[in-house]
Amino acid sequence: MQDANTNRRASRFGMTTAWLMGACLCLCPAAVRSESPSSPASRAPDVVYVGSPHDVIAEMLDAAQLTGDDVVYDLGCGDGRIVIDAAKFHGAKGVGYELVPELVEIGRVNAAANGVDHLVTIEQRDIFTVDLSPASVIMLYMHPDVVKALIPQFAALAPGSRIITHDAPMEGVEPDATYTVHSREDGVNHFLRVFTTPLTLESTTATSESGPTTPPAISP
Ligand SMILES: C[S@@+](CC[C@H](N)C(=O)[O-])C[C@H]1O[C@@H](n2cnc3c(N)ncnc32)[C@H](O)[C@@H]1O
Repeated sequence: MQDANTNRRASRFGMTTAWLMGACLCLCPAAVRSESPSSPASRAPDVVYVGSPHDVIAEMLDAAQLTGDDVVYDLGCGDGRIVIDAAKFHGAKGVGYELVPELVEIGRVNAAANGVDHLVTIEQRDIFTVDLSPASVIMLYMHPDVVKALIPQFAALAPGSRIITHDAPMEGVEPDATYTVHSREDGVNHFLRVFTTPLTLESTTATSESGPTTPPAISP
């Protein structure tokens, strides 16, 4: 990991490219397994699916100082890779929440294929309806507006819980630590931020009026 103040241009370019690629490629039917979806999506996702590279996930888990006693929630878990890696490499329990039914099914299959389905649960839920109080670690690869809108839900977390954001600030909250990770998988820099509860808010207004629909423009 490097200090976050380096290579900003490269990260912005990489992030934009990643989100655009995700919009075009990542819900390709050929990538979706044949099991029946849980149920139709209740609404459109707030952001499209882009998987975090596994070498970035490893750094996210290290940044959270993850142990086998932790319960990791990934809000918008995609194919479940973060909670699967948390279980596989750290023995932590993981819960992934995801709106897109095909991704929920893929996540469940992947958890079983990796031998961690006893530790990992993937549920089809809108993250804005989830009680976060059982979690000790929250992982987020989301648009900054989504992160901002989740701030009221973070009040349910026990003191000392860690929130790790991938390529997104949390408006009105200073991170405890920032890291730049150069991924060997996609060749670009990724910015991680670590927040520890209770959060110290600079502003009292922490809700957004509607969900975002466009990819983020990240300014680390
Ligand atoms: C950028 S991907 C991140 C996937 C995974 N967390 C990772 O880092 O590999 C964001 C995911 O959030 C899901 N999502 C978007 N809005 C959501 C919502 N309101 N509730 C649950 N999932 C949502 C999308 O379908 C997508 O799979």
